Formats: sequence, C-alpha cells, structure tokens
Amino acid sequence: MPTPLIDIKDLSFVFDDGHIGLNRISLTISRGEFILLAGKNGSGKTTFLRHLNGLLLPTSGRVRVNGKEVSKHLTETRKTVGMVFQDPDTQMVGDTVFDEVAFGPENLKQPRARITENVTRILETLNLDHLKERHPATLSGGEKRKTAIAGILAMDPEVIVFDEPFSNLDYPGILQVLEVIMDLHRSGQTLIIATHDIEPVIFEAGRMIIMENGRVMEDGAPLALAPCLESYGVREPCFSRFGLEPQPWLR
Ligand SMILES: Nc1ncnc2c1ncn2[C@@H]1O[C@H](COP(=O)(O)OP(=O)(O)O)[C@@H](O)[C@H]1O
Ligand SMILES: [Mg+2]
Repeated sequence: MPTPLIDIKDLSFVFDDGHIGLNRISLTISRGEFILLAGKNGSGKTTFLRHLNGLLLPTSGRVRVNGKEVSKHLTETRKTVGMVFQDPDTQMVGDTVFDEVAFGPENLKQPRARITENVTRILETLNLDHLKERHPATLSGGEKRKTAIAGILAMDPEVIVFDEPFSNLDYPGILQVLEVIMDLHRSGQTLIIATHDIEPVIFEAGRMIIMENGRVMEDGAPLALAPCLESYGVREPCFSRFGLEPQPWLR
C-alpha cells in the first residue's frame, strides 16, 4: 500500500488549562482527496488543522505527513502542508500583493527569476494580476483571501488546508474564493476545508468528516451524511432538507 499523505493515529491534544481539544483521532488522508471538515464552533476543527503542519503538537498519539513524524520534521511538513488561516490579515506581511505572494518562496531562498515567474503565473491564474501593486490592506475580503491562497500556492504545497475560507465574506467574496477552490480541486490538488457552512462545497467534496467535542463523529460520503448534520449543530444544506436533487453551488 502506498504511504498515505497524512496518517493520524490516536491523536489527542490537551490545552494548558486541561481542556481536551482533540480526543483519540485516527484517520488517513490520500493524495487528491477533497475533504470537508465540518462541525459547529468549538468542535475542534482549528485545533485539528493546526496539528497537520505542526503549529500544535500532539499530547499523545502521532501525526505523520509523507510517512514522517510532524514533530520531528517541522520545516519539511510546513512545505508539504500549506495552511490558509481564517483571518487573512494575520498572515499579511508584504507592502504589495506581489511582495505578499513572493514572501514565502523568498524565505525558502528560491532564485529571484523563478520567484517572479511563479508569482506572476499564480496571480494571473487567480485573476489578481491587476492588483499586484496594491497594498494588501486596501483589498476587499475576497481579494485578501485570494491573496493569502496565492501566497500558499507560491510555496507549491502538496496539500492545502483552509480554515473557514468563507467566513466574513459577502456573496461575491464567497464566489471568488469558491472558484479558486474548485479550480484547485479540478487540477488534482489535495484539499481540506474546515467550515461550519458546508453548503458551498458539499456537492464537490469527496469526503466529509464531522467533529464534535474534539472527536471524529462521522467520516464518509458528504451527500449521504448531509441529513445528520443538524444533530451535530451544522446547518443541513437546502437540497437535503427539502428532499431535492443535490446541485453544485457554483453555476
Ligand atoms: N488556547 C486554548 N486553551 C483552552 N481551550 C482552547 C484554546 N483554544 C481553543 N480552545 C477550546 O478548544 C475547543 C475547540 O476549539 P477550536 O479548535 O477553535 O474549534 P473550531 O475551530 O471547531 O471552532 C473550544 O472549546 C475552544 O474553546
Ligand atoms: Mg475554527
């Protein structure tokens, strides 16, 4: 059997104050998967995601990325697992959108010509090239989040993890981010999306993991699991509530 991209066994995490953040999670994630991590606020989604790139380390159990223990291979793990945080402002450091996106590869000491070529290509793909001289603080919410995604793509990660990618965005902002996510999925990128609003992505995702109280409660086909979402405090999509045919959110 090929090594799974992410391999988690008996992962538990206890915060300093004794609160149990994660409770004996075991699962594997393969290349090319598109996974929805659902659960109400406080269910442990962010705590879980932070273990995938070593921002938090297990109290017990283990997390392996490409067969290697995250706690012992932090730099390599962070190159493999790109993380788009919930609040893009906390991730922004550049004076222009271009510099912002180039920041990661510059830190990795990639050659300048290669950085310029890559960043230019990514900005074009994400339809951000007209904004490349703008200060990130002047962008709309959707543009900011797209810039944060571009910065992660510039590092060429094997898997991209999104923490609440649709939060605090208006409808056009959600559409902008959703289009990028769908293009990435179509190109075969491995994606993990944590969200308490699963409606925009449930149709396309191949797997849904539902968390509650730091535990994995369900792990299976998203459309089959849709009817049980309400019992975990997550809004059931309209199609499911009204017994309609599931439809993609993006037309
Ligand atoms: N630093 C911390 N110390 C103690 N408890 C925390 C800390 N950070 C988060 N928690 C708690 O852990 C639980 C899971 O939080 P989180 O992973 O952020 O959930 P989600 O992302 O699903 O909303 C919540 O009950 C939260 O209050
Ligand atoms: Mg969260």
